[in-house]
Amino acid sequence: MNIENMMKKISIKGMTASNRFAVLPTESNAAAEGGVPSSETVKRYRRMAAGGAALIYCEATAINQDARARVNQLILTADNWESFKPLTEAVKKENPDAVFILQLDHAGALASTDFAKPVGIYDRPGSGVEVLTDSGIEKIIQGFVDSSLAAEKAGFDGVEIKICHGFLGTDFIQPLNRRGGKYGGSFKNRTAFITEFAKGVKAKAGKRFILGLRIPAYESIPGGFGSAGPEEVIEDLTETIAMARLAEKAGISIISVSAGSAVGNADLIHPTAKYPDGVYRHFGWAAAVKKAVRIPVVGAGYSYLSDGKTGIGSWAYWADKNVRDGNVDFVGLGRQGFADPGLPSKLMNSRADEVNYCTACLGCGGLLLSQQPVKCVVYK
Ligand SMILES: Cc1cc2nc3c(=O)[nH]c(=O)nc-3n(C[C@H](O)[C@H](O)[C@H](O)COP(=O)(O)O)c2cc1C
Ligand code: SF4
Repeated sequence: MNIENMMKKISIKGMTASNRFAVLPTESNAAAEGGVPSSETVKRYRRMAAGGAALIYCEATAINQDARARVNQLILTADNWESFKPLTEAVKKENPDAVFILQLDHAGALASTDFAKPVGIYDRPGSGVEVLTDSGIEKIIQGFVDSSLAAEKAGFDGVEIKICHGFLGTDFIQPLNRRGGKYGGSFKNRTAFITEFAKGVKAKAGKRFILGLRIPAYESIPGGFGSAGPEEVIEDLTETIAMARLAEKAGISIISVSAGSAVGNADLIHPTAKYPDGVYRHFGWAAAVKKAVRIPVVGAGYSYLSDGKTGIGSWAYWADKNVRDGNVDFVGLGRQGFADPGLPSKLMNSRADEVNYCTACLGCGGLLLSQQPVKCVVYK
């Protein structure tokens, strides 16, 4: 299998990534007391670093206790960043060239009612989810800024904010967000969260610190992002493209493209045999965003392809072709990163026959939803 295009270098805000493999953020719900990395967390990321991907995203990490969707989710704040140093040091020791970016999130309406506090940007009648005031929103934006600066101190090369999959960031940007005031209604108001966040971090972080954004190109839910209005559901990428351009202008240096929603359309997030053409749709969404910006773009949704026996082409074939054709800059390993984070090194060293290919069974996703530590249930 020819993967010469996957082995080409690329720059992310002046940092050189030595290839086009990216391990996507995937929650493992395995943090130690207080949301800090456990020995299991460190072991997991050391394996990823050894696996050869040039870009590694650390899983969704909450900006505070109340922002959690998982009982053992990582939490990074201005007070606990030192506990994250063993994690960044382990990754850099294993692969000094790896670009290590932490994903920050607030679960919003998906925060647990048992051990966190669900909040939303707009009203969901009958849900019991508290709608944040403008000053509550400002506090949360400051929380993202503080956690980003803490991430820099802990040794991460950058942070990514998650505005996809139905978490709080998604609430802001959806056409459904018709709240009054400065955070709802117009596209400018719905994206103020991103511009204010970027401004806040850039004012204090080092010049090389990378800011990333993970967007849902098309949520495929009524009034969701990637549709033309609060009553619409037909795919319309006008705001997706506008969002990518706005992010680049605001100082975001890398965009990761996802789709779907944990609320009502999870099949689109991670395509399976139930919805194989979701894989190809992800290719199109990443390509549309890539056309709109000059910063690197990361694609997702490849795990179902595996070795090609699913009949819609193989992981390696489509990864290399999409990079070659300029459809994407990095190809993400989502579930494949649980099944075998060694895929990059095995493919680059002509050992493709040794890869444990993800079967897209979603056993890992089931563990996450039932609040258990997440791992691959096929390759133990
Ligand atoms: C168990 C599990 C955990 C995930 N955790 C995250 C996460 O922390 N942040 C995020 O943005 N996406 C998360 N995702 C989505 C993946 O990053 C990825 O977009 C998705 O699995 C599709 O890529 P794939 O086909 O390679 O699996 C998760 C997916 C799974 C199955
Ligand atoms: S549990 Fe299934 S979907 Fe998850 S990584 Fe393993 S093979 Fe892939």
